[in-house]
Amino acid sequence: MPINYDDRIPNNVDLSSNKRLQRALETWQPAFLDWWRDVGPVGTALDQIYLRTAISTEPGGWAHFDHVRMPDYRWGIFLEDQDHGRTIPCGDHTGEPVWQEVPGEYRSNLRRIIVTQADTEPASVEQQRWLGMTAPSLYDMRNLFQVNVEEGRHLWAMVYLLHAYFGKDGRDEADELLARRSGDPDKPRILDAFNQPCPDWLTFFCFTMFTDRDGKYQLGALAESGFDPLARTCRFMLTEEAHHLSVGELGVERVLRRSAQLTQLDPNGDARAQGGIDLPTVQKWINFWFCYSIDLFGSEISSNGADFFAMGLKGRWNEAKDYTDHKALDKYYALPVVKNGSLTEENVPLRNAMNEVLRQSYITDCGRVVKRWNTALEQEGSDFRVSLPNSRFFRRQGVYADNNFNREGELIGSEAWERNRDAWLPSAADRAYVASLMHPVTEPGKIAHWIAEPRRGINGQDVAFEYVRKG
Ligand SMILES: [Fe+2]
Ligand SMILES: [Fe+2]
Repeated sequence: MPINYDDRIPNNVDLSSNKRLQRALETWQPAFLDWWRDVGPVGTALDQIYLRTAISTEPGGWAHFDHVRMPDYRWGIFLEDQDHGRTIPCGDHTGEPVWQEVPGEYRSNLRRIIVTQADTEPASVEQQRWLGMTAPSLYDMRNLFQVNVEEGRHLWAMVYLLHAYFGKDGRDEADELLARRSGDPDKPRILDAFNQPCPDWLTFFCFTMFTDRDGKYQLGALAESGFDPLARTCRFMLTEEAHHLSVGELGVERVLRRSAQLTQLDPNGDARAQGGIDLPTVQKWINFWFCYSIDLFGSEISSNGADFFAMGLKGRWNEAKDYTDHKALDKYYALPVVKNGSLTEENVPLRNAMNEVLRQSYITDCGRVVKRWNTALEQEGSDFRVSLPNSRFFRRQGVYADNNFNREGELIGSEAWERNRDAWLPSAADRAYVASLMHPVTEPGKIAHWIAEPRRGINGQDVAFEYVRKG
């Protein structure tokens, strides 16, 4: 179904044929715009941003780029086309036709899954709202705003599901999504990483690299859902998410390249003395955001994870394509756990280890990016190599949260943890230093000193193109 841009809410779900739903969403729309005005990107309402808008959900449907004011961005509801023969890919209902309506017995679980995912979308916009003021270039500023408008659209995608399939409860949840605030002590966002501040661009790049990538894996798991409208929604969101991940990956890579250059430029090998970010500091940011992001997968041993899989609400990454046994019964996952003060392996029923299975797929994906970063460092003539910490390091959720581990994943005492903490994670002084470098660069083609130029521009445009026109 083509995208209809004539309706007040652009959509490819034939919204105008369901007047009640259309009216309900049209009532929610001004509340969304108020939210965007109140906590979206600061001071940008009149700026013209070079943004892409989906014109169809087919591959290549992203062809449309234009300068638009963000409040005029056409947030809408886009689902991938229905695959009519699709069956439930996993769990106890494997092989049965997918559900087009919410199965009554799974209603509250499904609502919880959707609300938890939905809550992250506006949260990240709130976290990033000040960053436009210190963008290192117009190119970067544009990428930030592209990510922001698309997270707003992801919120729309999830709110559509709540309104269309969950009645009054769903409408109440949709209102709550605009009421919670990232970092607010009284009304925080649901997940911890989404209440962390995002005060500088190194954080933004790590966030889009690691935390948006968690989003990719959660959406991937939900794209395998037996509830077909959710699966189709998530499949289209994944196409938008790919850009966010590249903003993060390439952003960190450009910081690493510049850091390596400045390190070599300085007689004492001190990138900070040259006004840059030193490589060990970048590694600390990687440690912090990698660990916060792997917490988002939930506990290593989880009965909820088992239930969601058994019910066919959530699959593994590429469940239908990469796995042959979709029931995962009578199988075990060997998980290292702490027992009597040391690490031993425990055999966990595979269904209870589904969070961990998804987390490991994610970690493998992160590892591929780290390899590319190290190739970039090598190209710059640097001996420094970045790495991911072990997944037990610095955890606040799951079976490792009560113990301390070093970066290699070895059990250590609390004294050793305290002694090394500032060497492993951003210290207050590191944060203050990185913050001190954040000054806006708003001349087309110019770039902040602490980051390398991008290799290429957006949509075939020059790097020096005027990606943002101040209003
Ligand atoms: Fe998103
Ligand atoms: Fe994203």
